[in-house]
Amino acid sequence: MKLTDEERSWLAGEGGVALRRAMEIIVALGRIYGAERLIPVESVQISGVSYRNLGEAGLNFLRRWVQEGAEVRVPALLNPTAMDMGAWSEQGFDPEFARRQEEIVALFAQMGVGYGSPVPTCTPYYIGHRPTFGAHLAWAESSAVSFANSVLGARTNREGGPGAIAAALTGRVAEYGLHRDENRRPTVTVEVEEQPRTVADFSALGALVGNEVKRGVPYFVDLQVEEPLRETKLKALGAAMAATGAVALYHVRDVTPEAAHFEPPAERVRIGLLRKGYAFLTDTHEVELVWIGCPHASVEEIGEVAAMVEGKRLRRPLWITCAQQVRGEAIEAGYAATIEAAGGKLYADACLAIAPLLDLGIHSVATLSAKAAFYLRNLAGVKVHFGTLSECIRLAL
Ligand code: F3S
Repeated sequence: MKLTDEERSWLAGEGGVALRRAMEIIVALGRIYGAERLIPVESVQISGVSYRNLGEAGLNFLRRWVQEGAEVRVPALLNPTAMDMGAWSEQGFDPEFARRQEEIVALFAQMGVGYGSPVPTCTPYYIGHRPTFGAHLAWAESSAVSFANSVLGARTNREGGPGAIAAALTGRVAEYGLHRDENRRPTVTVEVEEQPRTVADFSALGALVGNEVKRGVPYFVDLQVEEPLRETKLKALGAAMAATGAVALYHVRDVTPEAAHFEPPAERVRIGLLRKGYAFLTDTHEVELVWIGCPHASVEEIGEVAAMVEGKRLRRPLWITCAQQVRGEAIEAGYAATIEAAGGKLYADACLAIAPLLDLGIHSVATLSAKAAFYLRNLAGVKVHFGTLSECIRLAL
């Protein structure tokens, strides 16, 4: 692999131990994937930050990296943690768990993540980090990766935790996978038997497609993506395909920015009725909590919820997760006050799929996100009801 003089000096340890360790990871990944060179990245998004996932071993790994002088070189952001960093007590988290989670975020802050004040979110594109077409990134969370690649036309592989940190410290990734033109070609044409309408429909469709195409690059030839919430529908579709499959890039004819560069591939799949997706994602109709905001909600989505619950009283907890800045926008727009008056909560920083829900006394959750349904069941171990936004709100009411 060709390295610049500067990259070679970092690898030789001239920039310190942390930078050398980061370079070793980047170069090793490049060798594994046959890359010829490293390329600069515009931004990095680091995942795997929940204490539930990292545990003591991960915490020690971060402590050591900070002691060795780790410092980010490009804008770097953090994926959600398990809890709202300011309201974990209200959510019912154990203080010891919260202390460890706070230490993890503080360690990332010391590295300069989030300019020293990390804002954990899986939707960095809602908080001023909207990559431009063709920009190279090192993002880690699968729905953010799908959105950046497919909806924005930026270029990123799905980075692992240490790989993303290494990219943040060096500002480089090895040029392989979705950074290269040839790997952005669609591999399978997708036809839909039923047009999705709601955001949940797009999520159900994504779950079915992900199951079918696994790691491929789907090309939707006849999918209609109408307003309102057009981007939210694409976000939901991509998040679901990344969860039930490992789809990091998709194209939709006449919708996504790279679709016009390609012809539909010869291999075809036809996706049947969406109710199959709803059935596959649901295992209970009795829920204790309704969760909206997977991936993290936009202010428009929060506005929709506010309109639905205005003047009503919720009988079950309704938690909406979003980025801190988005919550600020929702407060300014008056949506947060409406939702809170009905009994709902807006939590920033948090992802319930990586939270110890059973320890919080939550055994069943309703969601309109196929990704949430998939991980709540498989990671958090709770029962799930998958439904449209109206149905989720009806359950909360
Ligand atoms: Fe985001 Fe967690 Fe869903 S990271 S995409 S809220 S599973």
